[in-house]
Amino acid sequence: MDRLDKFLVNAKVGSRSEVKKLIKKGLIKVNGEIIKKFDYKVSNEDIIEYNNEVVEGSRLVYIMINKPIGYLSSTYDSRDKYVLQLIDHKFKDELSIAGRLDKDAHGLLFLTNDGGLVHKIISPNKNIFKTYEVKVEGDITKEKLKKLENGIDLKDFTTKPAIIEKVEDNIITIKISEGKYHQIKRMMKAVGLTVVDLKRIAIGNLCLGDLKEGEWIEIEKPNIFNNNSPE
Ligand code: URA
Repeated sequence: MDRLDKFLVNAKVGSRSEVKKLIKKGLIKVNGEIIKKFDYKVSNEDIIEYNNEVVEGSRLVYIMINKPIGYLSSTYDSRDKYVLQLIDHKFKDELSIAGRLDKDAHGLLFLTNDGGLVHKIISPNKNIFKTYEVKVEGDITKEKLKKLENGIDLKDFTTKPAIIEKVEDNIITIKISEGKYHQIKRMMKAVGLTVVDLKRIAIGNLCLGDLKEGEWIEIEKPNIFNNNSPE
């Protein structure tokens, strides 16, 4: 149950003072009846109308986007391009990004206003595997792959075991369950490989699929955790 004025503010109808004016003017109906009380209690089952059009209440939103290279994984920046500029959604100003990508990386970003889910995804003890497709310069030898797989001492921390597959002469896919700053680039550097292209193709069970670069879609609440992550 919410107050009518709060419901309208959350639904982006206007600011607190603006929606109060609308209510006072008799422009808001609840279940077909004009309501002039700001604190009238409404629930999800009620039909709220403004100017005889149904108002969609605030709700949980789940969005995936294929971030292009050159965009910051942020919801605002005063100088650089940032991913939220690519998204046109009523509730976009409520979104947080669950796991960033570097400006020069591309691929899957997941955004939501479901704070609990963001917390779970970025929490280190959840061990969600993120899958990256990495193009490198340098020889990809079996020894290097073994080292990456077993965990590498990066001085400030040792990486957890990773799952690696060589897909082409200079391309590997790697699944890591952590998300430390520049982790993939640092892991590759530690075995003498230089990353020339870095693309995230999955976060847990959520796959980028054939979403084109710069495109976004709203999805149902994803089942990110149901993968082979160690519990
Ligand atoms: N590892 C990196 O080095 N960069 C990213 O953007 C993600 C993982």
